This record gives sequence, structure tokens and C-alpha cells, in this order.
Amino acid sequence: MTKEELRDKLIEEAWEGRKNSYSPYSKFAVGAAVMGADGVIYRGCNIENVSYGLTVCGERTAVFNMVAHGCKTFTALAVVGSGSAEAAPCGACRQVLAEFCESLDTPVYIGDGNGGLLEVTVGEMMPHPFLKFDPEN
Ligand code: THU
Repeated sequence: MTKEELRDKLIEEAWEGRKNSYSPYSKFAVGAAVMGADGVIYRGCNIENVSYGLTVCGERTAVFNMVAHGCKTFTALAVVGSGSAEAAPCGACRQVLAEFCESLDTPVYIGDGNGGLLEVTVGEMMPHPFLKFDPEN
């Protein structure tokens, strides 16, 4: 699969993931999809809660879905929102993406409901991430 084919596939999968969004409070449905290093695509969606701060974004549920299935690295991610708003990953998600991305050059595709698409890398969004430390030191 070429890079462009993977991008288009992940965008499509992110829209599929968005169908499961639980967002009755914001009414802003988000879908995401990652390509795991195991070759499997994992989807996610935002999941809100009446205790608003417990909400989890679509990007994180996609990555957590991957990890829960035994894969700890993704090689590309797509996230889609609705309308003209780009669902640019929030700060908390950026830290989670930095933890599980293949490298800081891993591509992130951000789509909106009008066919707009922004391509960035994890490193561009999260230039100086706090990365794994040695617990012995
Ligand atoms: N949200 C995401 O799922 N991903 C983003 O990139 C930005 C925001 C969700 C959180 C909340 O459920 C809704 O969008 C409105 O903030």
C-alpha cells in the first residue's frame, strides 16, 4: 500500500469509527484510526460522560484499542471531526501519541467534514515530548 493509499484508507476507517461516537453533550462526533505495526487498523471514537472531565477523545480510544489488542506501536493515524472544524488532537492526546508512535516522523492526518485534510507529524505537534524514563535512575 502506498503512503497515499494508507492515508485514504485510514481516513475512511476514521469515519467508520466516528459512527460509534458517544457525544451527547458536545454533539461533536470524532472518529480516529491507527495503522498498527502489526498491520491491523484499529478504530476509535470520542466517548463522553455526564461528568464532563471523564471524556476520552477519539485519538486516545484508537490508540488504547490498539494497545488493548497487544500492539504497542502505530505507523500512521487519521482523525476526523464534523463540519468545518478540524479535530486537531488535544494536548493530552499528543502526549499519548508520542508514547506509542513509531517515530516522531509518524504521519497524522486531520480531516474535517468538508473534505479538508491537514498532514502533520507527531513531532510537529509534540516537539519536545516527555518520553520513557529509566525507573532505576
Ligand atoms: N475531541 C476529540 O475526540 N478529539 C479531538 O481531536 C478534539 C476533541 C472530542 C472531545 C469531546 O468529546 C468533543 O470532541 C468536544 O470537545
